[in-house]
Amino acid sequence: MKSLIYEHHPLTDMTTFGVPAHARFLVALKQTDDIPYILGDVRFAHMPIMILGGGSNILFTKDFEGCIIKNEISYLDILSETDDHVIVSVGAGYDWHDFVMYATERGWGGVENLALIPGTVGAAPVQNIGAYGIEVAETIVSIDVYNRVTGNYEELLASDCAFGYRTSIFKTTARDTYIITGVVFRLSKNAQPRTTYAALVQYLDEQNISHPSLIDIRDAVIAIRRSKLPDPRVLGNAGSFFKNPYITQDAYHALLAVYPDMPSFEADADHVKVPAAFLIDRAGWKGRRIGAVGVHDKQALVIVHYGGGTGQDIVDLAHAIQADVFEKYGIHIEPEVNVW
Ligand code: EPU
Repeated sequence: MKSLIYEHHPLTDMTTFGVPAHARFLVALKQTDDIPYILGDVRFAHMPIMILGGGSNILFTKDFEGCIIKNEISYLDILSETDDHVIVSVGAGYDWHDFVMYATERGWGGVENLALIPGTVGAAPVQNIGAYGIEVAETIVSIDVYNRVTGNYEELLASDCAFGYRTSIFKTTARDTYIITGVVFRLSKNAQPRTTYAALVQYLDEQNISHPSLIDIRDAVIAIRRSKLPDPRVLGNAGSFFKNPYITQDAYHALLAVYPDMPSFEADADHVKVPAAFLIDRAGWKGRRIGAVGVHDKQALVIVHYGGGTGQDIVDLAHAIQADVFEKYGIHIEPEVNVW
């Protein structure tokens, strides 16, 4: 077994919020073959098990009295290639942004709008990461998993994963069933740039880029993210803390009457997705600091940890924001971050 096992391991540096907590056991999972041995280890037999990637979407409010498996399985293999596309298999522990850089440098399109998202390749499908008009599910062919119930290694097709806005079976119905070991992507060699997202259009216009390459898009996304989102290595955060809510058409039109400038995202006959950042911002929370935590001054959807705070401080702030947004607009906003 190549994987390493630690006891009473600090988690502070293992999540991007950087709040203090400990794990009873921590396993650095180095290779797929080790999984059955780890799960069969008597020390972990009656304990909860949690899979951790880059720790960029989790908040610990207390110690974890169980075993955390940190996925460090890292490989990148080309499975097949034509003039049109490439099928590439990537280990779950591979750094997401490194993968985006690798792909874009080779002219493989599909993930360039997802540059600079913190986390790992294996975590990307769990919440179906998305940004600037693209969701990762669009490029996924299949997911390699270890099935904890049957003890088998399996391949799940993308169509089996019930991908939706920031969700998949890995967050819902199959929450504790699978350990994702790798993801297979189909990337295009003739990708058309996806420049529908307003902030991206505006940035490219400002730079006078009318026919952007993959690298132009990637670099534009990097520049926009750097200007709005705090770098977790400098200021603790987990990106958007809340999901953008879907509200009824009636509620949407009532809000528009008060805020005619409120943007909106996709809609169906009954519902419209509106930016939680707008609601939180207009409710007066942007840039507000309460002790060691606060709302980011450039993006109201991001809760930041200035240092010396706890996970509970962040949860308390999140609850205060949720209650205020509900009181002011009658809209319930749900966390995107997993709170333990
Ligand atoms: N807005 C404000 N105040 C703010 C920030 C934004 O009023 O402080 C308004 C603006 O009008 C803006 C709108 O909200 O047009 C949307 O803002 P933005 O484009 O920054 O996107 P978002 O909806 O806040 C989502 C994702 C981000 C992703 C961006 C870009 C969710 C929960 N968040 O944020 O993802 O990077 O779109 O595509 O869907 C993440 O999931 O961690 C994340 C950062």
